[in-house]
Amino acid sequence: MTQDNLLQVQNLQVEFKTRRGTALVLNGVDFEVNRGETLCVVGESGCGKSMTALALLGLIPSPPGRVRDGRVLFQGEDLLKASEARMREVRGNRISMIFQEPMTSLNPVYTVGDQIGESLRLHAGLDARQARLRAIEMLRQVGIPAPERRVDEYPHQMSGGMRQRVMIAMAIACEPDILIADEPTTALDVTVQAQIFDLLRQLQRDKGTAIIMITHDMGAVAEMADRVMVMYAGRVIEQGSTEQVLSRPSHPYTRGLIECLPELGSSRLAERVELTEIPGVVPSLWEIGRGCAFRERCPQALARCAHDLPPMFGTDAGHTAACWLEAPPLRKIA
Ligand SMILES: Nc1ncnc2c1ncn2[C@@H]1O[C@H](COP(=O)(O)OP(=O)(O)OP(=O)(O)O)[C@@H](O)[C@H]1O
Ligand SMILES: [Mg+2]
Repeated sequence: MTQDNLLQVQNLQVEFKTRRGTALVLNGVDFEVNRGETLCVVGESGCGKSMTALALLGLIPSPPGRVRDGRVLFQGEDLLKASEARMREVRGNRISMIFQEPMTSLNPVYTVGDQIGESLRLHAGLDARQARLRAIEMLRQVGIPAPERRVDEYPHQMSGGMRQRVMIAMAIACEPDILIADEPTTALDVTVQAQIFDLLRQLQRDKGTAIIMITHDMGAVAEMADRVMVMYAGRVIEQGSTEQVLSRPSHPYTRGLIECLPELGSSRLAERVELTEIPGVVPSLWEIGRGCAFRERCPQALARCAHDLPPMFGTDAGHTAACWLEAPPLRKIA
């Protein structure tokens, strides 16, 4: 672990008990996040991106969910073993999150100013007046017009895009060490998105904040990410620098995601490009069984993919992929 290493996630396993049985929603997720970098997490719907984020903060809905195994080391401290009191200190202060659905985390009975100010009073020791001034400043920074007036409004008085920006203001007000952003700009138009990205980059430059950004928008990945992690069916199947993963994808799934994009690498990346469909569907978590979960959809599947789960192979410095095609050739025994 280097000094720059803020977070190490090791063998994270999360299961959900349902009437059909127990589904392993995260099946051994490993990754690291360094100070000041942006890690983008991509993959089709249902692959476990939000669950990964929730597990880091101890927010897996339980029951029916449960962390079955693994470690989430935040500056060496295993958060999976931390007390609820310690987690309250960490959440919203050291590690904060912009949730995928803003309404689930805004409280309808408090003004947005009170909600942004709350964590500042709680964690940064500001008094009510200072917290209100800072809340107005945060609303201004996320591009909300007339923040002096808006600060006293309730969430239902705002549009979806504005609520999203209030969430972003809440998440960055305390200048966290790690900001987890789950589809932070999906509800926003392109100009507001650009403004938010500038704000995040500035926070990162000034405070060394690490950002974990979950997104379907490959334009956002190309613009924001230092590194990219691709998930499929509850596992990380490829990781590397943005350049490595977008220009030289190793896993057939990643190649599929990228081939679905028009002219990747061209200036069109600056536009909003959604991940479109690879033929076939993600297998349900009950159907995965042994072997590689992508094999049924994979144009290059080998016989062994049906029964052997591919481990992560290094393809290039810092670039790994869980695919048998990347296995080093067997050496002949003399
Ligand atoms: N309460 C629950 N009970 C059972 N399974 C659940 C529950 N909540 C989520 N899951 C399952 O967990 C898996 C991972 O879900 P997750 O929300 O992490 O996906 P995601 O990658 O964030 O997708 P999206 O891009 O749609 O947001 C999914 O297969 C989902 O069906
Ligand atoms: Mg999600």
